[in-house]
Amino acid sequence: MATITSHDTKIPTTTPGSAETGTCVLPPFAGSDNLYRQYFERTSDAILIIRGETFVDCNQAVVDMLRYETREQLLQTHPSELSPDVQPDGQLSFDKANEMMSIALRDGSHRFEWDHKRADGDVFPVEVLLTAIPCDDGVMLHTVWRDITERKRLQSEINHAQKMEAVGKLVGGIAHDFNNLLVAILGNAELMKIELNQGKDDSFQEYIDEISKAGDRAADLVGQLLAYSRKQVLRSRVIDLNEIPRRVAPMLRHIIGEDIVVETLSFPEPVPVKADPGQLEQVLMNLASNARDAMPDGGRISIEIFSADMDEWQSHRGRRFPAGRYAGLRVLDTGQGIDDVILDQIFEPFFTTKSTGTGLGLSTVTGIINQSGGGIQLATRKGAGTHFTIYLPISTEAVRKEGKTAIESVSIDGAGQVVLLVEDEPSVARLAEQVLSRQGYEVHKAINGQEALAMVENGNCKFDLLLTDVIMPKMGGPELARILAETDKDLRVLYISGYTNEALSSRGILDEGVQLINKPFTVDQLISAVGQVMSV
Ligand SMILES: Nc1ncnc2c1ncn2[C@@H]1O[C@H](COP(=O)(O)OP(=O)(O)OP(=O)(O)O)[C@@H](O)[C@H]1O
Ligand SMILES: [Mg+2]
Repeated sequence: MATITSHDTKIPTTTPGSAETGTCVLPPFAGSDNLYRQYFERTSDAILIIRGETFVDCNQAVVDMLRYETREQLLQTHPSELSPDVQPDGQLSFDKANEMMSIALRDGSHRFEWDHKRADGDVFPVEVLLTAIPCDDGVMLHTVWRDITERKRLQSEINHAQKMEAVGKLVGGIAHDFNNLLVAILGNAELMKIELNQGKDDSFQEYIDEISKAGDRAADLVGQLLAYSRKQVLRSRVIDLNEIPRRVAPMLRHIIGEDIVVETLSFPEPVPVKADPGQLEQVLMNLASNARDAMPDGGRISIEIFSADMDEWQSHRGRRFPAGRYAGLRVLDTGQGIDDVILDQIFEPFFTTKSTGTGLGLSTVTGIINQSGGGIQLATRKGAGTHFTIYLPISTEAVRKEGKTAIESVSIDGAGQVVLLVEDEPSVARLAEQVLSRQGYEVHKAINGQEALAMVENGNCKFDLLLTDVIMPKMGGPELARILAETDKDLRVLYISGYTNEALSSRGILDEGVQLINKPFTVDQLISAVGQVMSV
């Protein structure tokens, strides 16, 4: 580290490990004491003594480390020449050097990492120990540098290996679950084929049901993964958090046995939060299912909604949140509690202690809550039960009533309406075309934005609806919609989205006015979504 400004003013009254005050404790470096000189010269750590903006002395290790030819040459350089302009954390070296020195002067010594520049321009990381040494007429800084290039390299290799291990776990987990679903889908389809060949075609319903069930489970799994990876499109609006337990109650009755009592305590006033209600339902379902699993012999689940003023606080995973008013959703159970040993692991994807668990429940909850700007706290006692509390920033906007959703059935006759269907995935395009044609729509297909644009420019057809994928090679949906809107203000647009919403929104939250249907969608959902867009 190189000093840049003068620091003769503030002298600490004591130095660490020394009871002396104010007097000079600097060993005689001037060469009079041979023994000390030898200690100084022979250590492999680079030692440099600085006063103000001047280098007073240094050992040979500094000269070698910085690749200067002679000690004299190095001692004549200005400290600022020994550092790049900016440090790895983005701070200007000048500012950071002053900050580091102030700390060393205040505390007596300070250890930190720093990037230095060698005579040939090469930048390398060092660990610096700065020690303030008071003298009769000011203060000197004794600096020890240790080259940590190798340590950094190893650390980055370890980080990379850990990342790869996490990815490997994730891929392994998904592959395992998907394989089971594929067995069901492929096996049942094959059975249908065999029976068709044998001239039997009256027992297909059962096979088709199995395929649909496996498909639904695959869709749930993908939904959970997307929530986990925070890539799901959030349909946020301001809702009263009190609504969530009410909406989930009918589903909860199905999953929770008779021997568990469920009680809900709502808050007497509306608790407005800006979030995707469907996602919050999933959060509550996951927490309630965990609570149920923790009470195999029965017990009580309490669901509480509240609003509270909080001081600065930390989530279970250590994220800091500012003081303010928060909306809370708490799920309490009287179950077995969570063992300390696994407490750090429960939020990891695929971590489960259950023979049939996927281990995605809590990581999904974390993904959703992080995406909504909130945090999670938990309290647990072995044998006594567990509380999970979700905190979300309270919204200052008023609660908005639910508008029409794609699930609501709006089916209109498509006769006379022309749809431009732009989708690069042939199986999705084929399905959408078949569904819409059966509704009476006239469907024209293109495989990307560019092809669609050419069709509009060359054709003599006027389109009523643009039904388009979001991300496609050559030209994506949003760009296509923008270009077409320039010449056709009446064109309605409905996006089909795989997951990524970045093209449609700024913060992962869908902009208002954008109409979207998520993959995978059912036939009914597609008909309804198109019907809704066409009916406004
Ligand atoms: N309320 C709770 N009481 C006791 N243990 C819990 C509770 N909630 C979570 N856990 C522990 O955390 C682990 C991870 O939970 P998570 O919801 O992520 O996966 P899972 O419940 O095992 O699987 P899935 O959610 O697919 O059913 C659980 O296996 C369990 O050991
Ligand atoms: Mg779970």
